Amino acid sequence: MNDLAQLLQSAQAEFAQASTPADLENAKARFLGKSGQVTELMKGLAALPVEEKKTRGAEINQLKQGIEAALNARRQALLDAELEKQLKAEALDVSLPGRQRGTGGLHPITRAMERIEAIFGSMGFDVADGPEIETDWFSFSSLNNPENHPARSMQDTFYVDMKDEGGRWFNLRPHTSPMQIRYAQAHAKRYAGQETMPEIRVIAPGRTYRVDSDATHSPMFHQVEGLWVGENISFKDLKSVYLNFITAFFETDALQLRFRPSYFPFTEPSAEIDIMFETGPLKGRWLEVSGAGQVHPQVIRNMGLDPERYIGFAFGSGIDRLAMLRYGVNDLRLFFEGDLRFLSQFK
Ligand code: DAH
Repeated sequence: MNDLAQLLQSAQAEFAQASTPADLENAKARFLGKSGQVTELMKGLAALPVEEKKTRGAEINQLKQGIEAALNARRQALLDAELEKQLKAEALDVSLPGRQRGTGGLHPITRAMERIEAIFGSMGFDVADGPEIETDWFSFSSLNNPENHPARSMQDTFYVDMKDEGGRWFNLRPHTSPMQIRYAQAHAKRYAGQETMPEIRVIAPGRTYRVDSDATHSPMFHQVEGLWVGENISFKDLKSVYLNFITAFFETDALQLRFRPSYFPFTEPSAEIDIMFETGPLKGRWLEVSGAGQVHPQVIRNMGLDPERYIGFAFGSGIDRLAMLRYGVNDLRLFFEGDLRFLSQFK
């Protein structure tokens, strides 16, 4: 074997040994680099006589092509190996079961609210929504709530570090009752100067806030306010509307309603509404579900209406309480902890 054939062999052997692209480039330099073995052979040509230069030159060129071919082949082989490795690492097992993406469901309080809206909607009640940050006037004064009423005290109501036009602290509404005034005022304004005004018939469900927290009280809770004002709306309408609502809500006629005398500044007379199931696990116990009453003449006046002409009733019920009774939940806090083991039962 002549020296050139040997050189080709050793180049092929070295390339074959290179296991990384960097190794391969180093091996290449040893043959084809500036002072590589093939380059040195080329330099040696200069000293040869013309005839020999030609044949030897052609042979060296052939060698060079051979080495380059070997180099390219090895380069490709390394690339292929690398790709193979990568494909193996990223291999997908298409036979694996897919990842489950659970479907959500409405929160039980949302469900209860939607039920309430649908039931009152069927009785011709509008549904209204209003601010949760209220002025002192809407939360208290307009509702005929005297300055010394306990609902105004610092222990009960969350105050916002900002004052209204009257220089009084804004508050997180402690009940939905401000919506009585807001809705009725807008209604009265819309029909001002007209001979007759359509009746006000509205519910206002929403979040309310009080400084209170235990198994049956949460600092954020939900109420639904109801208001029906017209020229001839009496307590008997309150009774029939509420009975209709409560039997529809619980899907049973096997329950009783009781009005217990009470006091609220914005109603006169005032009552607490209790219900009693005649069957089921809560059978025979009176459960308080709502405050209610005939709207106080001063509140009618604050709505922008004439109390000599307009009369009606209002109520404010705890939605969380109703939802607890309907779904058999014994701790209010479960509604607001966001525990999926609890929430997913309502899907
Ligand atoms: N706002 C009262 C409360 O939160 C509930 C209430 C009682 C609302 C009587 C009314 C009502 O509209 O007439 O305790």
